[in-house]
Amino acid sequence: MITHDGDAFHLFTNHTSYYFRITKFGHLEQLYYGKRLAAPSPESLELKRTAQVGSAVMYDEADPYYCLDILPLEWSGIGKGDFRQSPAEIKMPDGTFVSDFVFVSHEILSGTSEMSSLPAATGEKSECMTLHIQMKDRMADLFLHLYYTVFSDTDVITRRTVLENKDEKPAVIRKLMSFMLDLFPAEYTITTFHGAWIKEMHRQCAPVGNGLYVVQSTTGTSSNRQNPGFFLAEKSASEEYGKVYGFNLVYSGNHYSGIERTHQGLVRVVSGINPHCFEWTLEKDGKFETPEAIMTFSDSGFNGASGNFHDFINRHIVRGDWKNMERPVLFNTWESCFMNFRRGTLLRMARRAKDLGVELFVLDDGWFAGRNSDHAGLGDYTPDKKKLPHGLGDLAKRIVKMGLRFGIWIEPEMVNYDSDLFRSHPEYAVRITGRKESLGRNQLVLDLTNPTVRDYIAGSVSDLLDSAEISYVKWDMNRHMTDMFGSELHGQGEFYHRYVIGLYDVMTRIFRGRPHVLLETCSSGGNRFDLGMLCFSPQIWASDNTDPIERLSIQGGLSYLYPLSSIGAHVSSSPHQQTIRDTPLSTRFNVACFGVLGYELDPKYLTRTEKKDIRQQIKFYKEHRRLFQYGDFSRHETSKGNKLSWQVVSADQNSSVSGFFASQGHASEAPDLLPVSGIAPEQTYRVSTLPRRLNVKMFGLLINHILPIKINPNGFIFRLIDRFYSLTDCVEEYTANGDQLMQGIRLNNPFIGTYYNSRTRLVGDYGSYLYLFSRISSRNPSDSKQGGHHEG
Ligand code: GLA
Repeated sequence: MITHDGDAFHLFTNHTSYYFRITKFGHLEQLYYGKRLAAPSPESLELKRTAQVGSAVMYDEADPYYCLDILPLEWSGIGKGDFRQSPAEIKMPDGTFVSDFVFVSHEILSGTSEMSSLPAATGEKSECMTLHIQMKDRMADLFLHLYYTVFSDTDVITRRTVLENKDEKPAVIRKLMSFMLDLFPAEYTITTFHGAWIKEMHRQCAPVGNGLYVVQSTTGTSSNRQNPGFFLAEKSASEEYGKVYGFNLVYSGNHYSGIERTHQGLVRVVSGINPHCFEWTLEKDGKFETPEAIMTFSDSGFNGASGNFHDFINRHIVRGDWKNMERPVLFNTWESCFMNFRRGTLLRMARRAKDLGVELFVLDDGWFAGRNSDHAGLGDYTPDKKKLPHGLGDLAKRIVKMGLRFGIWIEPEMVNYDSDLFRSHPEYAVRITGRKESLGRNQLVLDLTNPTVRDYIAGSVSDLLDSAEISYVKWDMNRHMTDMFGSELHGQGEFYHRYVIGLYDVMTRIFRGRPHVLLETCSSGGNRFDLGMLCFSPQIWASDNTDPIERLSIQGGLSYLYPLSSIGAHVSSSPHQQTIRDTPLSTRFNVACFGVLGYELDPKYLTRTEKKDIRQQIKFYKEHRRLFQYGDFSRHETSKGNKLSWQVVSADQNSSVSGFFASQGHASEAPDLLPVSGIAPEQTYRVSTLPRRLNVKMFGLLINHILPIKINPNGFIFRLIDRFYSLTDCVEEYTANGDQLMQGIRLNNPFIGTYYNSRTRLVGDYGSYLYLFSRISSRNPSDSKQGGHHEG
């Protein structure tokens, strides 16, 4: 995993190599990051320095070709001739900003290296190795520690930095990145994930031109604006092919990544805590540690890089009792009743949910005293007497008795003016004396930089969790930060980062002793979907937007960086609350099943056919749950702009499910091809459509074409038929070898306006299909046939 030969270090995983060396002046020169090399040597890999570049600054006149500005480096300072973005801006003990860190020593450790304030990836000593390099500024007694941990099994290398001051005078950190990497000149594209509330994680690709491209957040959390994760890929890379580098941060606060292509074509990447309003004074013997950054490389396109991240997160980020465990199908009360419910309503709802096959009942917002709107109640967690006259313990007991688990929503980082907590401790809220504070969702942030506030939160939430049979918590956080001020801080430049450290501390104190509790974090949906949170919560609520067509972008975007086991995905009512789009129930499920499935609708209003469908959906999901949550996931490009496909394959390649999704239907559409990958080429599979039922009402007047009698599409009889009867869509069945299926399955015609029979796929707008692949046996390729058909 790590070898050291002369001045060079080779860090390698199963399929990648990372290679750098110490230069004669003590800087670390990046030589290679990419596909695994058997025995790299610098001669052919080094960027040659045989000519002096015009207007360059010589580092040392002993070597006129040694110029930091054109060297690919592992770290760089300021003021010695490297004019690219710097990974650090430090006011040095002598008051200047000039720093020049050079190699002092190294050690190679088995396992990871301990961090003191932040969560980090975990791994057994046999699974990973750490290289610790110590550097020192040429003048000041300032030491820089670079940590590289190599996770061979998942092709991930993590990096982080620690700055240590042994100087008598303080150093002031204004910027200290977790890592810096100089990639060799090439035409790269950058893929980032941006958005806002209800439109999180939309993917954006752009060529990396000269100049600086920034991925950042300044909201106090990792944010829905730009996720900290991103990719750099060669220009021609696709989902399946090409060289792709992936990056992410184990951090939940303001993040910053700078991607800069400079005059000589090198691309410098730095990533870490956002320097925005950041200032940290390091006194003598003080240390500052940055969050851990993760990097991967794949030459199998974006799917390859995503797969590495998925495996890495499932194995080395998620921890505790729920690691690698199948997650329950949940029912959440939010979209069905918001804050307006009574004990009886909840119990009836739970009974109905249980009847559908749900396993966990989650009581969302609105259950504590005064919480009838988002203007009041946050901060106090005593049950509302009108809504829950017998308390939470009683409700939980009744629900558990039905055979369900019980879970609860909380928002512990916040307070409303109208709360007992604010009335008794206004000083717990983040605000500045004398300045009128700004509210978000009518609430203030609690000051997690203050140990007293942290004690209050850890104590009150722990008491709450012990007061009832609670086995799941949805931890929400519903506003961006403003009016940043921490009364206990030495300097306000520490605020954002101390808040994140405080949050991790509170979460550790609450959940370390309660590992059985399944934690799902949330921040107005996906406003804090990051690796820091995943160290505590194995799953995260992806978005308040559950419209399946929107979710194709949101979950699709998330899937680049995060495994399906971490993505909370619910089926809700249609037309959808935020888009007013009417989508088939089958599509709502077909998208949500590529994640941790839940339902968030009022079961009271489901028709008999809808209930039947949901029962079948949940049964199907439970049968294939491991596949949906932990299978190898791929995104497939189809040749059409209005279609896309996702696929999961089990680790043993015995089974697979493909989802084929249409946005807007087109008239007279060309045939569809279902892309397939990842199954065993020599094995035979049976592929069949998951039967899909279509609401009669979707067809309106058209229904009269297939009925013996004519009925009024707006009449009572029509509505009655719709409640009790639905149409079956075409079911296709194929049996063929994997190699043949991986050429793409030629699907039956969609409805193209002229003809209809039971072999016609009624895709329409927002239609979708699931295809289940089951391995039958190995068989001679000449026996295989495709296009077999079962008229369902
Ligand atoms: C946020 C969450 C929702 C719901 C509400 C409750 O918006 O994202 O899922 O829990 O809060 O107030």
